[in-house]
Amino acid sequence: MLDALLFTKTPALLSSLYPACLWKVATEEKKLYLTFDDGPIPEVTPFVLDELKKYKAKATFFCIGKNVEANPGIFKRIIKEGHSIGNHTFDHMSGWKHQNKTYFANIEKGNKALGRENKARLFRPPYGKLKPSQYLALKGKYKIVMWDVLTFDFDLKVPKGLVLRNTLKHTKPGSIIVFHDSLKAQPKLEYALPRVLEHFSAKGFKFEKL
Ligand code: NI
Repeated sequence: MLDALLFTKTPALLSSLYPACLWKVATEEKKLYLTFDDGPIPEVTPFVLDELKKYKAKATFFCIGKNVEANPGIFKRIIKEGHSIGNHTFDHMSGWKHQNKTYFANIEKGNKALGRENKARLFRPPYGKLKPSQYLALKGKYKIVMWDVLTFDFDLKVPKGLVLRNTLKHTKPGSIIVFHDSLKAQPKLEYALPRVLEHFSAKGFKFEKL
């Protein structure tokens, strides 16, 4: 039941409303796109980088500006190890709860924290929430990246076994998978990420950055 609930939430309606957003990479090749939101933080991000390295996997990190400012060494390590960086606002602001001016200023402050590293102009809205007017203003300036597989690693009600099972079940060639390098997600990420990497590597998949 919970399985069904989780993934019927996949935003089919939103993807038709917001067609310029990237929900999945159009490919039949065995390529997957891991994304990690809300870091970088010392408790979790180095673990993620170590696991990725074991499988020669590349990924995309949607960083919160204030975490980048607090943890510049970890941010540099992400870049040095060849991963992509994207903007996730300065302090995880919800587009639904703020005026556009405030929201855009927060994204801009996030850009300052990232410096020149967001080369592909990637942006992921916190909570996946954007007002239509925000979408219209941002879609020309950024590649707005959503997902087709939400792991629910952040949800305290979802056990780690279910996080893993659902991720394995719903991932397809070209999938964009959301994990979180956050304290809330840590126990489930530490369980699921190594198993996802192992499972799909054994099946011949490659993990690429956006
Ligand atoms: Ni987030």
